[in-house]
This record gives sequence, structure tokens and C-alpha cells, in this order.
Amino acid sequence: MNPVQPGRAAAASPKLSLKAERFTESVIREMTRLAIRHSAVNLSQGFPDFPAPAEIKRAAQDAIAADINQYAVTWGTKKFRDAIAANFERTQGVSVDPEREITVCCGSTEAMMSAMLAIINPGDEVVVFEPFYENYGPDAILSGATPRFVKLRPPDWTFDPDELAAAFGPNTKAIILNTPNNPTGKVFERAEFEKIRDLCVKWNTFAITDEIYEHMLYDGAKHISLATLDGMRDRTITINALSKTYSVTGWRVGWAIAPPEATAAIRKVHDFLTVGAAAPLQEAGAVAMNSPASYYQSLATEYLARRDRLLGILTSAGFKCFKPRGAYYIMTDISAFGFPDDVTFAKYLVTEIGVAAVPGSSFYLDRDEGKNHLRFTFCKKESTFQAAAERLARLRAKV
Ligand SMILES: Cc1ncc(COP(=O)(O)O)c(C=O)c1O
Repeated sequence: MNPVQPGRAAAASPKLSLKAERFTESVIREMTRLAIRHSAVNLSQGFPDFPAPAEIKRAAQDAIAADINQYAVTWGTKKFRDAIAANFERTQGVSVDPEREITVCCGSTEAMMSAMLAIINPGDEVVVFEPFYENYGPDAILSGATPRFVKLRPPDWTFDPDELAAAFGPNTKAIILNTPNNPTGKVFERAEFEKIRDLCVKWNTFAITDEIYEHMLYDGAKHISLATLDGMRDRTITINALSKTYSVTGWRVGWAIAPPEATAAIRKVHDFLTVGAAAPLQEAGAVAMNSPASYYQSLATEYLARRDRLLGILTSAGFKCFKPRGAYYIMTDISAFGFPDDVTFAKYLVTEIGVAAVPGSSFYLDRDEGKNHLRFTFCKKESTFQAAAERLARLRAKV
């Protein structure tokens, strides 16, 4: 007989949420845990392994020392919202009202979730480009939206306008898109945005754009915010964060910029989900958002060098690479290695070679479609690349 532990039920446990049953743990975050367990070089999860800018860290330290340690205004401190508004005007020429159109959240992850919970009703559909950043799947399930996927096809990750048009309909509430794009490195062009805009206007939908990699651009690519297109200002929810631009992914500070009515709903959802983002880090965020233009230029230049470094390493190891025009990931084709699928290959890489990457299937609904892909990140310092190069050189013999 199994003794029942004090406080534990003897019979079956109460049922868990059906929503939570419909998605798995994040494969990306799981790869980081595996990398730690196997002392592998971690090229899976997109967090920098180099220091954040000294001035921004000092601003956070100063804020804590000055006792900015209590709840901030739930939708973000005025100073930070003003800085976000000024930054959006400077970079995209869009003027927004920080009092009525900005909600500061716990990372862009929470901004996306709050935005979706604020606009989705039962029966609503959202159009999502695939491959997609893996959070968007669970975001749809948790908010109750049905995703309609539209393919981005290699090598340029373009979409078929007819397929996009067919995904829209009377139940469409929003399109979710990420530019510059994780995992493909695609940067959406104006002509593509015009097609998207026409469909959003035709079907009277929102667009939620995740622009967290806005400053990581290569080979002349330009970042366009969908909100700048005629007809989109009042139907676009623009999501962004400090995470990637300022190398502080662990701070968990992001925001949503949305028209006033949508913002009012987002703020309510956000308040009851998290109350607010860390107050001292919002102080530092205000300093970060006022960085000089030279900061963003150096960021892009340094990331270009990192991209080319990793492209070189992966190509010499036998990977076929899709050269990214933005963000900080490289999607690869692994067919030449002859493994049965991406997950088997990723496990072999992390355990036998000592390098962690993300299986391509985690970016697709039908996992088979990603089975020839692995995603590597290049937000890493030179010693990390050096270690990865040495380890991956052992792979060459397998091709
Ligand atoms: C496209 C995209 N959106 C959002 C996030 C998460 O951002 P945050 O740290 O601001 O929650 C990531 C992180 O990798 C990402 O790639």
C-alpha cells in the first residue's frame, strides 16, 4: 500500500486546464536547460552573453539606491512612456500620446499576451506567418483565438498574396507579425505591408506587430513599422521591449503602443495580470530610450560582424544557411547531415558535439515542416563563437 503523504490527495488529482494541455513547454527555453546540463555552447536562446551598456546599468543601480522600489503607475512611469513616445516619433515619425496610447508591460511577451487578451472574443481568428516565434501559438490558445497560418517560404521567406488573402475573413480579428523576423531573419518590405494593410482595412482587423529586433538590420534592410502606413495608425498595436536593443532580456520590460480604446483594454488586462513592470528598471529604460543615434549604429555594425562570423562557422561545418537581413538568428538547412529529423540532430549536437541550437519544428504547427531546419543565434561574444567553431568543426566529417 502506498502511504498517503500528509496534505496530498489519495485519489486522482483535480483536473488541469484544457488550455494548458494544448501546448508544450517552450522548446527554446528547454534547449538552454539542455545546454547547461551538457556544458554546451548555447546558440539556442536569443539572449546576449556580453555586458549591457554601462550607462543603462548605472541608471538602474541609481534608481534602486534612490529608493524607486515601490509599484510604479500600472501602465508605466510617465518618464518612461514619454521616452517611448519620443523614440517612436524619432525612429518612425509616428506621434503617439503617452497618456492614452502606451502600456508598459513585463517584456514584450506580456505585451503580446495582454494585447491579445484585450481584443480576442470567442470565435475570433488571428492570421500568423509561419514559421513563427514559438510564443504566438500558446498566445493564441490562451487568448482563445484560432490561428490561421500563412507560409513564409525559403529562401527569401516571401508569402503568396493569394494565400494571405484566403486566410482573412469575417472572423479575423488581427494579423500577428514580427519584423525583423525570428526565426527567418526576414525584414518585411513596404510592398508586402501594403498588401497586408489592404486586407486589414478590407476586413476591419487589428495588426499586432512585434518589432523587438527593429535595430538589427543588415545589407541595407530598412525597418518599417506597419503603423506608419496609411490606414494602419488606428488599427495597429506595436510591441517592443528593452530586451534585445539594450541587451537586458532578463529585465522583463516591454510595451504596447495602441490606439486609445485598445490601450484602455490592454491596460486593464495588464493590471490584473502583473500590476506593473519593475519600477527601477523603467527609470533605466527612460535613459536607454534616449541613447544617441551612434548607439544604434554601433549595435547594427557589431551585429553584422557577429552575423558574418556565425555564417562562416556554420557554412564551414556543412550547414546550408539562409542569410538573415535582420534580427539575430540564422535558419539553416540540415538535410546534408542525413539525420532523420531536426530534434534528433539538435539532441546529437548538444550531447555529442557540445553546441545547442533550436529544432526548426518548434516554429511550425505541423512539426514535419521544420524537420530540415535548425536555428542558431549570434547574439554572442567572440570567445563563444570560437568555442562553437572548434566544436562544430567535428561535424564536417558527417556531411
Ligand atoms: C520575436 C520575439 N518576440 C518577443 C520575444 C521576447 O521578448 P521579451 O524578452 O521582451 O519578452 C522574443 C525573444 O526571443 C522574440 O524573438
